[in-house]
Amino acid sequence: MYTPDQERYLGRLSEELLKKDAEELLPRIEELRDVIRYHEYRYYILNDPVISDSEYDQLFKKLEKIEAEHPELVTPDSPTQRVATDLTPGFPTIRHLEPMYSLDNTYDEEGIRDWDRKVRELLKKDEIIYSTEPKFDGSGIALIYLEDKLWRGATRGNGIEGDDITPNIRTINTIPLRAEFSAFGIHRSEIRGEVLMKKSFFRKINEKRMEEGLTALANPRNAAAGTLRLKDPGEVAKRGLEAFVYQVALAEDSQGNDLIGKKFNSHYQTMEMLYELGFRSPVKEMRKCRNIDEVLEYVEEWKEKRDAYPYEIDGLVIKVDDLMLQREAGFTSHHPRWAIAYKFPARQATTRLVDVEFQVGRTGAVTPVGKLEPVHIGGVTVSSVSLFNEEFIREKDLKIGDYVLVERAGDVIPYIVKSISERRSGTEKEIEFPRHCPSCHSPLVKPEGEAVWRCVNINCPAQVKERITHWVSKDAMDVDGMGEKIVERLFEEEKMLHSITDIYRLPYDRIEKMEGFGRKSVEKLRESIEKSKSRSLDRLIFALGIRYVGKNTARVIAENIDRLEDLEHMSEEELMHIEGVGEKVAKSIYEFFHNEQNLQLIESLKELGVRTDVKEGLEPKSGKLEGLTFVLTGSLEHFSRSEAGKILEANGAHVTGSVSRKTDYVVVGKDPGSKYAKALELGVKTLNEEEFLQLLKEKGIQA
Ligand code: IVH
Repeated sequence: MYTPDQERYLGRLSEELLKKDAEELLPRIEELRDVIRYHEYRYYILNDPVISDSEYDQLFKKLEKIEAEHPELVTPDSPTQRVATDLTPGFPTIRHLEPMYSLDNTYDEEGIRDWDRKVRELLKKDEIIYSTEPKFDGSGIALIYLEDKLWRGATRGNGIEGDDITPNIRTINTIPLRAEFSAFGIHRSEIRGEVLMKKSFFRKINEKRMEEGLTALANPRNAAAGTLRLKDPGEVAKRGLEAFVYQVALAEDSQGNDLIGKKFNSHYQTMEMLYELGFRSPVKEMRKCRNIDEVLEYVEEWKEKRDAYPYEIDGLVIKVDDLMLQREAGFTSHHPRWAIAYKFPARQATTRLVDVEFQVGRTGAVTPVGKLEPVHIGGVTVSSVSLFNEEFIREKDLKIGDYVLVERAGDVIPYIVKSISERRSGTEKEIEFPRHCPSCHSPLVKPEGEAVWRCVNINCPAQVKERITHWVSKDAMDVDGMGEKIVERLFEEEKMLHSITDIYRLPYDRIEKMEGFGRKSVEKLRESIEKSKSRSLDRLIFALGIRYVGKNTARVIAENIDRLEDLEHMSEEELMHIEGVGEKVAKSIYEFFHNEQNLQLIESLKELGVRTDVKEGLEPKSGKLEGLTFVLTGSLEHFSRSEAGKILEANGAHVTGSVSRKTDYVVVGKDPGSKYAKALELGVKTLNEEEFLQLLKEKGIQA
């Protein structure tokens, strides 16, 4: 279909085309279409895109813009004239009951306001109620329910037909196999939604893959989409897929009468129905907005919340809430006119890999770090990325000088998705992996079954420095004022730090004389170092940097012992009785506490005043408010809203930003916002601050 020469040409061309304005492009419209077709082919057929999603969106928009300005030039085979396809060979194809359209999208406020204007003009209304909800970044699905049973499930495919993946869909716990649609008079329905993988689950499987020497998966979306298309439903069941549903595309009674717009008037109402039927619909995540300003406010709220949200979302979807108005607005050949996606700034971009450096971590693992031509991704400049290990480099076929596709997904570290070999010029250089430690020059070793090369010299300066940096870090002993740069200076230049214990023997009189320090800052440093001596046991365990013992494992271990020294006397078997501690972790802990140097370190730390028995601050969470949903509005006197939220969450409550019928309590402080009005409208119970404190007291929760 495309020759390698064409590929190279098209890869470069798309970049050039992005820079040109519509005027210049007019004579080249067919060329632009070809470029888009090519990128669709790379994405949908080869599953191997060479540009980022947002770069594709820009090209598509450019074509749409030219075509809108010159409708006489639109041809039936233009990419704008159909919805894209992701049909997979080898799966049976089935027809959707209703076509599954794409969504129009915009990246800015201007775009949302334009859309609102158009919708109001089209529907001849001054104001329209919009539902605003997250745009889940997974893989689209269509579910058909017949007589209260899940009948079949399909991928979006080309929008008209999709892959029949019913056996895989049936393994997803959040999709009910039975749902009492008949209670709402519905005989047959088609429900649309998105299959996702929780970010934390994704991270876990990636950690596991890395440990097993496999390459990391690019992002939760790819992981979900790939899993959904596996041929073995048994395997699918193990991969932690979840689903959200966000549209009732069809609802009929037993006579085949269409119920949408009759029995159900609003999108919000259909989402509440699905929630009641046992689906996960975004009732808690969505907001009914009375106008576009309220929509924009909600967009801002989500920009803040996005990273902390357990699922990857790539924007918000704004929908006309009234289902009859949706009907009236209808569809273009590509998307509904009644909805638009506001997409968050792109988190993917292409740039160049200019060099590779090798860093030695605190466990001696040598990690290649890619140096990039700086590139803006989602508001951050990225200039270096971890390349994990040698196998990653080989598998991604990375070379110095390559164009690479980089992604920065939320709280996930920047990551090279792929190299774009089509854009090579021939001057790229192979990446040579060192066989000697870049810090102490000892020969590196690669233990059997592991993917990483290690420096096994325990006194290797690079490792010692990293262990110190880890010890003082925020999640470990949290020594305020002793960041990486200071450690670097005290270690490399001043030679005041040679081991962790030196942190507690610093010559403050000398530091005071160092450039950038003074009496005050040294006093502050001394205070935070003193404070770090009585950090809680979980932090201490984490700070020791025992292999495979992360923050969470450290916490469960701390919950199960009285003092650090207890670990010196526990067998691997005893350690494995602690929930969440498997064989590998137990072995690592056992070895750590049976190593003479480590025991000496602990002894010296104790002599220097570091406490090993602080259990405060790690009491297990209570479930006193389990199952209750709270919304907080207005300012509280006794504490800040976020403090109140933390207390609620620590006791098992769910705290959300929007009021719905599912909300149990709305806590109303001084000058409450629209949430108060919403609570009154929906009849949700409200509590003033006094009543709220009383409730906490009754439940035995200290405020
Ligand atoms: S509504 C007629 N709502 O985004 C189209 N779609 O980029 C109705 N998506 O194909 C779609 N979250 O797979 C809708 N809350 C949401 C969504 C959502 C994610 C997906 C969907 C769609 C794609 C378009």
